[in-house]
Order: sequence, then C-alpha cells, then structure tokens
Amino acid sequence: MWGGRFDEAVTDEVAAFNASIAFEQRLARYDVQGSVAQARALVAAGVLTVQEGQQVEDGLNAILAEIEDGSFAFSVRLEDIHMNVEARLTERIGPLGGKLHTGRSRNDQVTTDVRLYLMAEINRITRLIQSTQRSLVTCGRAHQDVVMCGYTHLQRAQPVLFAHHMLAYVEMLERDRERFSDCARRMDRSPLGSGALTGANIPVPREVARREMGFAALTPNSLDAVSDRDFVIEFLAAASICMMHLSRLSEELVLWSTSEFALISLPDRFCTGSSMMPQKKNPDMPELIRGKTGRVYGDLFSLLTTMKGLPLAYNKDMQEDKEPLFDGVDTLSACLSITAAMMADASVNRERAALSLKGGYLLATDLADYLVTRGLPFREAHEVVGRVVRDCIERKWEIEDLSVAEFRAFSDRFDDDITTYATIDASLARKSQPGGTAPQRVAERLQFWEETLP
Ligand code: ARG
Repeated sequence: MWGGRFDEAVTDEVAAFNASIAFEQRLARYDVQGSVAQARALVAAGVLTVQEGQQVEDGLNAILAEIEDGSFAFSVRLEDIHMNVEARLTERIGPLGGKLHTGRSRNDQVTTDVRLYLMAEINRITRLIQSTQRSLVTCGRAHQDVVMCGYTHLQRAQPVLFAHHMLAYVEMLERDRERFSDCARRMDRSPLGSGALTGANIPVPREVARREMGFAALTPNSLDAVSDRDFVIEFLAAASICMMHLSRLSEELVLWSTSEFALISLPDRFCTGSSMMPQKKNPDMPELIRGKTGRVYGDLFSLLTTMKGLPLAYNKDMQEDKEPLFDGVDTLSACLSITAAMMADASVNRERAALSLKGGYLLATDLADYLVTRGLPFREAHEVVGRVVRDCIERKWEIEDLSVAEFRAFSDRFDDDITTYATIDASLARKSQPGGTAPQRVAERLQFWEETLP
C-alpha cells in the first residue's frame, strides 16, 4: 500500500506484531458499510463516475457476502481490516478499487468502523439488559409473598420483601441501560472525511457519507475525530459499572447458596460438582461473573492508560483499543445472558427466609418509631429500645415474646397496641412511602416493570 517510499518489506515478525487483523475481523461488515458510504460521497464529489461508483459498490457487496459466508481470506500481510477489504476490492474490480481511498485515511476509517460496530453492539446489549431485568422481575413476582431479613454491614437489620431486593437490581440495570444509550448518543457522529488528521484536500462531501451510514451528525474537529477514543472508554466505563452490579448480585447468590444462608437454590444447570467431594454443588456461574468483573475493569484501565500520554492526533498505540473493547463487549454480553437465564429459574427457600426473620431483633427500629409516635424524641426512644434488646439477648427472647406489661417496664409510653404495631407484617406495611418495601409499593413496581419492559 505504501511501497513507493521503502527499500525493503517488513520481516514476518514485524508484520505479525504490527497487524491488527487477527483480532478485528468482527469489524469487517462495518468497514464495508463505511466504504460504500465513502464511494457514494466520491460519486457526489465527481471523483468516481456514477458507473464507477456502482462497480465499487457491487464489488464491496460481493466482499460483504464473502465475509458473511466465511469465505473471505484475511491476510496478516495486509495488516488490518481496512487494507484487507481494499486489496480484495482491487482484486475483484481492478485498478478502480484504488480510487476508493481518495480523501480518507485509515485513521478516520478505523474510528468510523468502531463507532458503527459499537452502536450495533449497544443495541444488542440493551436487549440483554432488558431480558436480565425481566428475569429479576419474574423471580420477584414468583416469590412476591416472601419476606426475609434485610442486612446492613451484613448484620441483621430490618424485614424486607425478597421482591424488593430483586427490584433493587432491576433499578441498577435500568441506570446501566441509560448509561449505554447516553454513550451511544454521544458516539453517533461520523468522523469519515477527517482524513489522516486535518481533513481532505479533495472536497468529498462528508454529509453524503454521514447520511449513508445513518450517523446523527458530523464530528466537528478532524484532529479530535481521529484521536478520540472517549466513546470506547465511556462504553467500557458503563460496562464496568454494569459488571459491578452483576458482581454484587453474584456475590449475594454465592452467599445465599451456602448452607449457612441456604436462602436460594440455583438450577443445577448453572452449577457444577466437585471432582473429589461428591456432596458439592458449587455456584460457579455467579463466582465466574464476580471474577470476570475484574477483567472488564482491566479492559477499562488498559485503554485509559494507553490513551493518557498520547499527543494529537492518531498514534499506533490506539490500535490497542480493540482487544479490551471486544473483550469487554463479549464478557459483559455473556455475563448478562447467563444472569438472565439463571435468575428466571432461581428459587427461594421460604422456610429459611422465614427463619431469617428470627433472632435479629428486626423490629427494634419499629419499637423506637412507636415511641416516637407517642411523643418521645427519637434519640431517647433509641436508648429505651436498646435496653429492650439487651434484655431480650440476656433472656434469649424475641421482641415478639414480650408482653405489654414487660414493654411498659421499659417505658410507660408502651400501650396495648404495641403488640399489633411490632409485627413483621405491620412493619412492612408501614414502609409505604415511594421506594419503600411495603407489599403494595412492591406490587406496583413489579407491575410497572412488567408493563414497561419489552
Ligand atoms: N489498525 C489500525 C488501528 O486499529 C488502523 C489505523 C491505522 N492507521 C495508521 N496510520 N497506521 O488503529
């Protein structure tokens, strides 16, 4: 492609080291799409006649067919996807193929390809997020009546609906979905025509190519356009946050699968056994998702580090964006897909959920709030109930075991109705402000998602 200036070809080792084709073949169809758009812009510019433009397009479409049926032969000597496609075009249609690269550089080409690729992937990932949300809603709905212990500091805290817990993850995933769509919106700019760094000498209308590819607008600065990888970094940041959410869910699944919790049972097809210990059923899927989260963070940091010292404009270092990006896309997709399948069929151990409500003095806050409704300042009420709990601990009692007279020994503001106030059901029902775990609120939110999710 650039023989003119050189005395000798690169060695095989250098060719292999330099080439990106081994890992960027998935860009092929987008490279063809960008080239078709460029061909049309070249026709509009008068660089290609209408007939030449058609020949180039037919050649490119034939190449697309080869790519799609797997017969396209990728060559390391041709370094990257752009030169592989262009060389094949010239093979097919002759020297006319050599006109396609007028007014464009691989620098604007590569970022065009990656934007097209990533916008399509974000659409796919959005659907995976939504199917994961749907599974969590299904799981919540299937266990709508299950009340369990909610934790802070992993210490027993207050009663909560299991469905509320599932819905918490649905909300996290919704923010993830929004982050990806936000990132796609900013990515939706055509860099084609930025040339190597300053634009093109030949007035090839960028607008024509933009319209062909369906981008919403043009990038406004050629130097920025060819040296910007923010959109990849933003994607990996959104992917990292989404993985963090999946990892937190996974950690809970691992924890809940222990004999100590025994709160959830994952379908066997998502677990594995031990080669040595016949009794084992290990939650490998959530463990792996938790593990792969670190890997996606690594993808993000790898690219942030690659970019931090680069002068404008394009530098070959930037070729190092592909592997972390593709790894991030593949890892996130697999983790979402497994989580969606696993959660749709996860089942809660209702007995253990009920048991988790015992022994943790989960109604202590309710007692304090009861005293508040009787006019005691919250701090004093907290102190009184602290003594109630201490007494219960010493006597090995539950709060529910106390009689009204025993309550009154701690404060004369306790009345007969304390026994109906301090129950799990009453406690839940009182959490009826928006966002609370009251069964009514949770049922509404389940229904909202059932109606909203595609
Ligand atoms: N394979 C290159 C990359 O991924 C394409 C751009 C190459 N540009 C260049 N001037 N060598 O970044």
